[in-house]
Amino acid sequence: MKDQVNDRTDEYGGSLENRCRFPLEVVEAVVNEIGSDRVGIRLSPFAEYAECVDSNPKQLGLYMVNALNKYGILYCHMVEPRMKTVAQKIECPDSLVPMRKAFNGTFIAAGGYEREDGMKAIAENRADLVAFGRWFLANPDLPKRFALDAPLNKYHRETFYTSDPVLGYSDYPFLDDDSNGVAS
Ligand SMILES: Cc1cc2nc3c(=O)[nH]c(=O)nc-3n(C[C@H](O)[C@H](O)[C@H](O)COP(=O)(O)O)c2cc1C
Repeated sequence: MKDQVNDRTDEYGGSLENRCRFPLEVVEAVVNEIGSDRVGIRLSPFAEYAECVDSNPKQLGLYMVNALNKYGILYCHMVEPRMKTVAQKIECPDSLVPMRKAFNGTFIAAGGYEREDGMKAIAENRADLVAFGRWFLANPDLPKRFALDAPLNKYHRETFYTSDPVLGYSDYPFLDDDSNGVAS
């Protein structure tokens, strides 16, 4: 989708419409197969990792949500502009609000949220739902901890994106796990 990485010269490259053609065709095919109420999509128009950069990410995000409205899919999950890099929040003037307003289905926002600002985003109607990545990874009972406003396990960056299926993925302690204590 992004103009700094898509160098195709056919109908899947060049214009914004062409660059978005393939994901929209995938959505259409999946919707036809299983129904729009079972289809969601995650988009990161502002992200700049893996060489995937766009010169006008807001335009890209808006084009996609407007095009997705045609299919009536269940949700659009979008990563906040402040998460330009993989796991580092930056100050950023952009927001997801224009895409949130334009999309007709459930809008999920992710990226850099804590308990308090997640609740604020919902209260201010900036999203229907807020998703948590790193906090959920490190806290298998995150909803319970948020409900209780309990302390959180800290996540360990050094085990992000590693291949061990357990270490850093399913070995973080539950709140009431006596063997591991509470937050580390
Ligand atoms: C270990 C790890 C793996 C991830 N894998 C993916 C992935 O496969 N696809 C994706 O879109 N985002 C992936 N992410 C990004 C998260 O979904 C999320 O957007 C990011 O962590 C920012 O949200 P957070 O601040 O709540 O962690 C990953 C993040 C982490 C830490």
